Amino acid sequence: MFAPISVRGVTLKNRVICSPMATYMAQDGLPNDFHLVHLSSRAMGGASMVVTEMTCVSPDARITPGCPGMWNDEQQNAWKRVVDFVHTHTDAKIAFQLGHAGRKGSTRMGWDAIDQPLGSGNWPLVSASPLPYIEGVSQTPAEATRADMRRIKADFVSATRRAIAAGFDWLEFHCAHGYFMSSFISPLTNQRTDAYGGCVENRCRYPLEVFSTMRAVWPQDRPMSVRISAHDWVPGGTTADDAARVACLFKEAGADVIDCSSGQVSKAEKPVYGRMFQVPFADKIRNEVGIPTIAVGNIFEGDHVNTIIAAGRADLCAIARPHLADPAWTLHEAAKQGFTDITWPKQYLTGKEQLERNLARAQLMLQV
Ligand SMILES: Cc1cc2nc3c(=O)[nH]c(=O)nc-3n(C[C@H](O)[C@H](O)[C@H](O)COP(=O)(O)O)c2cc1C
Repeated sequence: MFAPISVRGVTLKNRVICSPMATYMAQDGLPNDFHLVHLSSRAMGGASMVVTEMTCVSPDARITPGCPGMWNDEQQNAWKRVVDFVHTHTDAKIAFQLGHAGRKGSTRMGWDAIDQPLGSGNWPLVSASPLPYIEGVSQTPAEATRADMRRIKADFVSATRRAIAAGFDWLEFHCAHGYFMSSFISPLTNQRTDAYGGCVENRCRYPLEVFSTMRAVWPQDRPMSVRISAHDWVPGGTTADDAARVACLFKEAGADVIDCSSGQVSKAEKPVYGRMFQVPFADKIRNEVGIPTIAVGNIFEGDHVNTIIAAGRADLCAIARPHLADPAWTLHEAAKQGFTDITWPKQYLTGKEQLERNLARAQLMLQV
C-alpha cells in the first residue's frame, strides 16, 4: 500500500488514490471553494493522488447543473487555484477526470433525484443511439451525427489544453457508466449501423479517435488513464472478455492505465456486489492485457489494498466512499497498520504522534 509507483514522469508516493466523486457544487460549471476544500483536504489526508469529479467539456455535456466544467477561462483559473493548493501544500498529485454525460445528462443532483430529468430548463441530449436511459422517464437523446462527434472531439481537446494550463498531473478520460463515450462502447447503447457501431473495434472507434487526439496534445511525460465499465451486468452487454479487448485497444492508442469500474450503463443491470467486487476486472486486464490497472469498488480497509497490490491484481486502488467518511483515510489506515514512516502535513504532526501512541496503547491492552 505504501510502495511508490511511477507512471511516465509522475511518481505517486503510495497506491491509494481518491476516486472521482461528483459533488454537484459548481454553478455554471465553475468550481469554487467547495472543490478547493474537498480535494485539498483529501490530498492532505495521505492519498497519493486525488481525482476531480467528472468535469464536463461543454454546458450540454453536464450530468446536472451542479457539475463542473472546463470550457472557459474562469473555470480554468478556478481549477488552477485547486491544483496550485495541492502542489504547494501537499505531496499528492492531482488528476483531472474529463467526460461528457451523453444520454445521462440534464438530470437532478445526485442527493435529490439521481438520473431524473430536471423539473425545468432541460437541455437536449446526444448519445451513440437514440435510446433513453430510463424508458418513459428520461429524455430520448438524438443519435450523434458526424458533426456532433467532430464538435465533441474538439471540446475534449480544448478542455485537455486547459487542463495542461491549469497544471494537472494526470488526465483520466471517462469512458464508463453509460455516459457519452461509454454509450459507444456498450452494445446495449450502441445500435449504430455506420463504422462506429457493430463489433467491439467499431464501437471503440470514436472513443479511441478522441483519446488519440487528446493524447497527442497532453504532455508526453504525464499519464492518461481511461475509466471503463468492465461489465454491464446485463445479458447481451459488455463482459470481462470484451473489457479486456477494449483495454487492449486503448493500450495500443497510448493509454497508461485502465481504471476498472463497471455498470451504470443500463437500468436492467444486476451487479454482483461484495467486498472488492470489481477487482477481478482489474486483475484480468492487468495480467492478460499487460497494462497497469486501478481497482475500485468496495475497497475499504488497508488490508484490502495491501492484498490487491501484493497479489499483483492491480497497481493502484481508488477509494471513493471511505474518503467521504474520512478525508485522511490513508493516514489513519497507515497508523492502524503501525506504519509510521508516512508524511503528515507538518501542521498536523502532533495529531500523528497522539494517534500512533493511542493505537499502540490499545494494541497493548488487547494483549493483556
Ligand atoms: C457521491 C459519488 C459520486 C461519484 N462521482 C463519480 C464521478 O464523477 N466519476 C466517476 O468516474 N465515478 C464517480 N463515482 C464512482 C466512484 O468513483 C467509485 O467508482 C464508486 O463509488 C465505488 O467505489 P467505493 O466503493 O470506494 O465508493 C461516484 C461515487 C460516489 C459515491
